[in-house]
Amino acid sequence: MQFRAAPHAATPAAHPATGPSPLRIGGVDIGFPVVQAALSGYSDGPMRLIARRLGASYALCEVMLDQFLIAVKNRQRNRRFLEIAAEDHPVGGQLMGAEPDQFAAGARRLVEVGYDVIDINFGCPVKKVLGRCRGGFHLSQPEVALEIVQRTRDVVPAHIPVTVKMRRGIDDRPESEDHFFRILEGAFAIGIAAATIHGRTVVQRYVGPSRWDFLRKVKSWAGSRIILGSGDLFTPHACLKMLEETGVDGVTVARGAIGNPWIFSQARALVDGQPLPAPPSLWEQRQVISEHYRLAEQLHQERCGPLMRKFGIKYAALHPQHLEVREALARVKCRADWDRVLAQWYCEDLPGVHPDPKIHVGSNATCQEESDMQA
Ligand SMILES: Cc1cc2nc3c(=O)[nH]c(=O)nc-3n(C[C@H](O)[C@H](O)[C@H](O)COP(=O)(O)O)c2cc1C
Repeated sequence: MQFRAAPHAATPAAHPATGPSPLRIGGVDIGFPVVQAALSGYSDGPMRLIARRLGASYALCEVMLDQFLIAVKNRQRNRRFLEIAAEDHPVGGQLMGAEPDQFAAGARRLVEVGYDVIDINFGCPVKKVLGRCRGGFHLSQPEVALEIVQRTRDVVPAHIPVTVKMRRGIDDRPESEDHFFRILEGAFAIGIAAATIHGRTVVQRYVGPSRWDFLRKVKSWAGSRIILGSGDLFTPHACLKMLEETGVDGVTVARGAIGNPWIFSQARALVDGQPLPAPPSLWEQRQVISEHYRLAEQLHQERCGPLMRKFGIKYAALHPQHLEVREALARVKCRADWDRVLAQWYCEDLPGVHPDPKIHVGSNATCQEESDMQA
């Protein structure tokens, strides 16, 4: 299907001289520096394709456990990790684990699957993940973290960039910041091509703001090394603001893109010096929401209905009667339900609304429990 064309989707050089520079990660040209973040439970192929068609230039898959990748079989339910559509490049595959050896084996698998960038997760704050010495736990042990980066870089072919995703530390103690910079400096010395920094601590999880002043500090420390920023990117204006205020080379949109993939085309318009486009009309929304379901159904088959509810709830935020639509989409069980809700609530081409950024605040969202990633 055709979506409204994203302006200069494939022409990064077309950014105005005053706008942000095109993003490049190692040898991978990304272009427009507003990209789709890794989102466990969300950033599967269908979400990434929708984001790309509306202007995201790069997208990351949901985090995968190294152990899962080593043992995984090509079963139907694992397709979301092991298949990449031709249209879905460049795409990053993200790894999480505890043991340097297993990271290396997991990274090899991601390369075989066809991921263009291998990203290492040093940020997940889920209790169970930390308890198993994974994700954000590594920010407390720079030596192990750097061994993981080294072992991963060693096995990934030189033309494929390795990157890291970090929170700004375990907590607010000065020692945490020392660890953060030790890891970041060591990782660049080993040869990572970029780092994505989420300006919250692990202990903070999602409570309180992401500290953009810390992102500015990291970018001025990093100089020409590539830094992407993360945290509180809920509007297209916020994406540009983070780029301008912190100097980061790119920004990764996470919760702000769930149910609002138009954030990418709107950010592109702003970068082009245009006013913020009107929110998509209900027919434009219907076209995208239907297509998202169609793609998700191909991948998830009969599990699709319940899996799409969480997207439906967020899509509803762009509808003028969002409470009623949210209620209806939250109860969808199958395609017939989904089509019925669209036919009822999206039948007239009325103007949509921009989602209220407050829908994300205080949401108990976090990386999905690792059990969901098992084969
Ligand atoms: C539901 C959910 C799942 C996430 N999954 C991942 C993940 O798999 N890998 C990762 O690096 N970060 C993950 N994150 C963190 C986001 O990529 C991002 O850094 C964080 O949400 C801050 O951005 P935001 O405040 O704009 O949402 C997840 C966040 C949420 C809310």
